[in-house]
Amino acid sequence: MSKRKTDIITEDVRLDNDKIIELKNNNEQFFIINGRRKTYHILTYGCQMNEHDSEKISGMLTSIGYEETTDDKSADLVIFNTCLIRENAELRVFGKLGEVKGLKRKNPDMLVAVCGCMMQRQETREKVLKKFSFVDIIFGTNTIHELPMLIYNVEINKRKSVEIVDNTESIYENMPKQRKFKHKALVNITYGCNNFCTYCVVPYVRGREKSREPNEIIQEIKALSEDGCKEVTLLGQNVNSYGSNLEKKVTFAELLYEINKIEGIERIRFMTSHPKDLTDDLIKAIKECDKVCKHVHLPVQAGSNNILSRMNRKYTKEHYLNLVEKLKKAVPDIAITTDIIVGFPGETEEDFLETIDIVKKVQYDSAFTFLYSVREGTEAAKMENQVPDEVKHERFDKLLDVLYPIVLERNQQCIGKVFPVLVESAENDKLTGRTEHFRLVHFKGSNALIGEIVNVRITNVKTFHMEGEFVSLL
Ligand code: SAH
Ligand code: SF4
Ligand code: F3S
Repeated sequence: MSKRKTDIITEDVRLDNDKIIELKNNNEQFFIINGRRKTYHILTYGCQMNEHDSEKISGMLTSIGYEETTDDKSADLVIFNTCLIRENAELRVFGKLGEVKGLKRKNPDMLVAVCGCMMQRQETREKVLKKFSFVDIIFGTNTIHELPMLIYNVEINKRKSVEIVDNTESIYENMPKQRKFKHKALVNITYGCNNFCTYCVVPYVRGREKSREPNEIIQEIKALSEDGCKEVTLLGQNVNSYGSNLEKKVTFAELLYEINKIEGIERIRFMTSHPKDLTDDLIKAIKECDKVCKHVHLPVQAGSNNILSRMNRKYTKEHYLNLVEKLKKAVPDIAITTDIIVGFPGETEEDFLETIDIVKKVQYDSAFTFLYSVREGTEAAKMENQVPDEVKHERFDKLLDVLYPIVLERNQQCIGKVFPVLVESAENDKLTGRTEHFRLVHFKGSNALIGEIVNVRITNVKTFHMEGEFVSLL
């Protein structure tokens, strides 16, 4: 796995060479003959980075004449955008690939492509090529722009197409993107990660951290705003270290003030904040920028200083609690959410109780909880004292017993209050949206409200969502 540095390529990805034009013409012919466009179906696993990459894949496919379908059985092209953060993420992909094997047997013309983080790892790539030999196309996280050429190779040259080129070196970012939602968008601000937390595979598969130029980010968000987008989520593995490797240094706080000025954008979110780099300036920016949502996702991972140090997280429990105190003091109604790993190698019962203690002290609004999963190639995989599965599960259950009542209580504090909610979708006669604090709200209302921010009074709450009633337009 590579530790090399990364360059960002900002020129537009060209889709006008002879071969791609030939491919587009063929797809038009297909449309004329069959009365429908060729269809693709993407299965996206993993985090918002992958979700955003899938929007880029959609954009590329649309520009060569494909149309999306939600039905994987009838699709002409099925794409797996994969994740390998934990073993079960990989197992899900392998399971689904097994299912697609049968479909491919029935319909040999169906193309199957696999991309994403799993394909950045040579051993996994080889496993896919061997075990799932029906897969036609494989590409990496930084070769999305090559997809039309890879399809050309399979369709016209009739040969299997693989494009990885240990490509954590150059990232092409200006390709057509097709947003999943009109009113909200994901925006990369950094790529890759330099932190090498000892359990984590991301730095190996996504390469070194590289920040985008502020101008590029601002221009992209201005264009999104002009296109009707109201909410942006700024993406990076550690947004707090944004700008440190730019020639003209810019901090994440400074970037937030600039984005806050963009007309039409009403909400700014960001993921993920690493506690080691959360500065006082950033806390001030969260407080002062009216569009920045008062919600920080601040992964703690563990409560014990010994475990934090062996995870290479570079902060202590005391530092973390101090940050939480500062955040709550600056913004009293701030929502704090987190990620927690249970059963890191060498975790003792006392270490685990430190995790329980920090959960109680912080009073999280929500948390993602994970069982530690051994990832080959990482430092932690080599550590002795791996925690037995049954102990991990026991601790995991104990953690949820403490966490869920806290989350429910935080939600209960919302009952009777009115919150602006950005409406995202509708199902039956129920609308769904999120509050500034990232709480999911269901309420009755017209589909015409999708994409609007409306006031909703909270009437009832559960652990994972709230129910409410429409009060007024904002
Ligand atoms: N860059 C983000 C996290 C990205 S991965 C950050 O540093 O916070 C999302 C979460 O997956 C991590 O926060 C961690 O809690 C979890 N995770 C990563 N590797 C894991 C592993 N090997 N086993 C279990 N959980 C893991
Ligand atoms: Fe993984 Fe740590 Fe980087 Fe997050 S900061 S992506 S957990 S190495
Ligand atoms: Fe994300 Fe999974 Fe890759 S969490 S960066 S999709 S390994």
